[in-house]
Amino acid sequence: MGTIERKGNSILVADGVFPDDLPRLCAALHRAIGREEDLQIGLDFSECTALFQSTMLPVIPLVVRYREMQRITFVLRPPVDRDLGRLFLNTNWAHHIDPGNHPPNRHSQGHMPALRFHGDGEDGQEAILERVLELILGTLDTSRDMLKAVEWSLGEIMDNVPMHAESPVGGFVQATAYTGSNSVEFVVADAGIGIAASMGQDDDQAALRDAITEGVTRDRERNAGNGLFGSYQVAALSGGEFEIRSNRGVLRRVGAGGLRTWSPPAPYLGTSVRCKIGLDESGLLERALRFRGKPHDPPHDFVERAFENDSGLLVMKMADRASSHFGSRKGGRHIRRVVENLLRDHPAIVFDFKGVGVFTSSFADEVFGRLFVSMGPRAFMTRIRMRNVDPTVEGLIDRAIVQRTRLGSQETDQE
Ligand SMILES: Nc1ncnc2c1ncn2[C@@H]1O[C@H](COP(=O)(O)OP(=O)(O)OP(=O)(O)O)[C@@H](O)[C@H]1O
Ligand SMILES: [Mg+2]
Repeated sequence: MGTIERKGNSILVADGVFPDDLPRLCAALHRAIGREEDLQIGLDFSECTALFQSTMLPVIPLVVRYREMQRITFVLRPPVDRDLGRLFLNTNWAHHIDPGNHPPNRHSQGHMPALRFHGDGEDGQEAILERVLELILGTLDTSRDMLKAVEWSLGEIMDNVPMHAESPVGGFVQATAYTGSNSVEFVVADAGIGIAASMGQDDDQAALRDAITEGVTRDRERNAGNGLFGSYQVAALSGGEFEIRSNRGVLRRVGAGGLRTWSPPAPYLGTSVRCKIGLDESGLLERALRFRGKPHDPPHDFVERAFENDSGLLVMKMADRASSHFGSRKGGRHIRRVVENLLRDHPAIVFDFKGVGVFTSSFADEVFGRLFVSMGPRAFMTRIRMRNVDPTVEGLIDRAIVQRTRLGSQETDQE
């Protein structure tokens, strides 16, 4: 349990802070601010030793609502701990709490920082979704179907915010890829009316159980009531985790088949959904997304939009990757992982070098050298095709393959 103490206009958050500490943090904010306006509130995380997106992301819409609706200024003291201090910047938590002092972070590894969306098409809900899918493809091991299950679930949970929440600050979303457990966790939170109010019920716990039940919706004309049901199924069948906090209700999946709801010590004035999906389960999509007894296969997916050409061939347009991936081994590893994942469900992929004149030799080694060694020459030459290769690029690829063949798959110094 973390330490949360309010001292006048300052809130101290110390030690290791976990999701079940969230109600006390909400209560401390409420007691410090209430309905007042134009206050300055200190948020002191300096002695914090552990903190996760499952705790912090839900705090962000509340803080932003106080700032934008009641003109509250938050002054952040980030953790003294170096790693945790860096996490505050990389995740955008610092930016959303105290934007005057912390610009947004656009580059991140292993996670997608906290981003805001309104669902009006302007702020790229679609782009956020694609960032999460690209993160998974380049960091974890996934089949195309598993990626589809994540795409469907995150899309549904995000869609619910503009559709039902009436949140004055829109929604916030953050995602993290866990390589150890080959799973992805995302959290979507808003500062809206909550699930019970949206469904016209007054018992929060009962409303949460209803919300994850097939076919339960507030509006039978427009919606099917499958979004939370299907997402819960995907999380549960993949051995993952699922948790909703909405006003005076918490719902959490506990172990296989277990579901618990309870009333937290203080309300969460909005809705926060946390969903962790394991990617190792095969055939999950068909088992998890079953509505009225029939399997539901979402017709278009990210792989189709991002990689398939008109004849169904997978194409990686290398020019699009130049600025984000060409400079480093890390970028190279990302591309290699994407290719390895795509080749699980496809016979071949085309690298299109149109508009590409050069890249670093360490990038070439991570992608072409290592793919050649791990796949073997014959599979490499039949499954990896190249198009629009100019002589410089050809030289870089050849050299990478020759050198890597000599070294084998041993590690290279990180850069
Ligand atoms: N962020 C939210 N804020 C408020 N209410 C919500 C939120 N998300 C879901 N709900 C409520 O939970 C109900 C169930 O959500 P769910 O996504 O399962 O179905 P739906 O959105 O009604 O239908 P579908 O997703 O199939 O179009 C919604 O009808 C709505 O009343
Ligand atoms: Mg929905």
